[in-house]
Amino acid sequence: MTAQRPDADPWRQQFHIAALRGLVNDPNGLIHWNGRTHVFFQINPTGCTHTNKGWAHVVSDDLVHWHRLPQALAPGDSFDSHGCYSGSAVVQGDQLVLIYTGNVRNAQGQRESYQCLARSSDGIRFEKLGPVISGALPGYTAHFRDPKVWAQDGRWWMVLGAQTEDLQGTVLLLSSEDLRDWHLAGRLLDAGHHGYMCECPDLFTLDGQDVLLFSEQRAAQGDAPASNIAGWVAGRADLATAGYAHGAFQRLDHGRDFYAPQTFEHADGRRIMLGWMGLPEQDSAPSVAYGWFHCLTVPRELRLVNGRLCQQPIDELTRLRGPETHLEGLHGAQTLPVQGTSYELELSGISGRFALDLRAGGAERTRLELSPGAVRLTGIDALGQATVLGHADLPPGAGQSLRILVDHSSVEVFLDAGEIVLSARIYPEASAKGIALTAPDARVAALSFWPLASFWDADLTTGDPAFTRAEEVSQ
Ligand code: FRU
Repeated sequence: MTAQRPDADPWRQQFHIAALRGLVNDPNGLIHWNGRTHVFFQINPTGCTHTNKGWAHVVSDDLVHWHRLPQALAPGDSFDSHGCYSGSAVVQGDQLVLIYTGNVRNAQGQRESYQCLARSSDGIRFEKLGPVISGALPGYTAHFRDPKVWAQDGRWWMVLGAQTEDLQGTVLLLSSEDLRDWHLAGRLLDAGHHGYMCECPDLFTLDGQDVLLFSEQRAAQGDAPASNIAGWVAGRADLATAGYAHGAFQRLDHGRDFYAPQTFEHADGRRIMLGWMGLPEQDSAPSVAYGWFHCLTVPRELRLVNGRLCQQPIDELTRLRGPETHLEGLHGAQTLPVQGTSYELELSGISGRFALDLRAGGAERTRLELSPGAVRLTGIDALGQATVLGHADLPPGAGQSLRILVDHSSVEVFLDAGEIVLSARIYPEASAKGIALTAPDARVAALSFWPLASFWDADLTTGDPAFTRAEEVSQ
């Protein structure tokens, strides 16, 4: 298939990290170092399938203007021949060190996993140092991956996604004095409650609690289909004994497209998360015709408030705002005097039955509905066919304010203080720009609209060797 030029692409994201070419999945190696924030992410630069995974790399001085650096890691060594899978970054002395999973298929086609290091002095070119944990530990299968490493109490600590030999998902805690010699401290999660594999764990202290994020792979059970769910637990962790008394697993995002998030601590102490706005089982999307697939969410600040993990787009994103349109005292069904393909909306004082159409044009629309006890996001295509893009139950009184980020092919909805979030990819016609309140008894005390500018520093078709090299993307 011939890929079309990106400049004709109606779904090219303006303020979300995505690749110019190829398939993107998990954010990796998030770190603030020497005044710059580095975001790496899983990339297959050669096509829109889940093969040939390496680490793409973008940096920013201000978290709101990004530029691309050369791919940091590519597969091909004996310990990562079939993929440089997910992992994290730490600073050791004056070096940036990446810790990632080398994925290998051996001569018999069986999976082998190696936890590997790579280092860099300039934060641009990385030298692979090979494995520091070869294979899985006794009692675990080769599904053993996604090291997240941090320094605490004079040691290095690692959480790692694992699968027990009886095929239960769990998260292991390991420690090391030098990043090379690692010892198992124990298991942070009881096996048997978290699907058949836990991917992409991340443990950090937030507002006085130890929060563990991880992504569960669940098998089909009864009427429930197989699923991949990113969530969190909070409690108190004792690293020395790997003791972790924690609450129930809760979803991080109620939209259709969210998985494998990772966090980092910014220089000012904020805990910032980016997720993959995609899911493992999705095998195509309209953007594949333009040679790319998937993107990351916007960076979101996390806070733990009254036992709920809240997410808000980082404040820096307000710097992308154009002129504000402010409306007050809206009620009844009406088309708003604002429209666009890349914008932010803030609504407060919402009451009555509420329904808002975004990216509306012809029969197409993305519909957000709030009713007592529930929020629902639905995509309606040009033929009037509806697809559920997300839904969540709401506690009493929830849903009085909304913040919504719409980009060329995504919508992210934050309710109230960000207690409930829904993220979904959408692929409307470029002409579908309308915004309308559609419930006759909806009331909104105040609404602000801002067009949002692009956060990339360069023309879309330049600075990407993969584009000029590979005019053809074969699937
Ligand atoms: C999660 C995941 C990780 C793995 C990576 C490979 O989406 O399956 O467990 O490291 O993707 O791309």
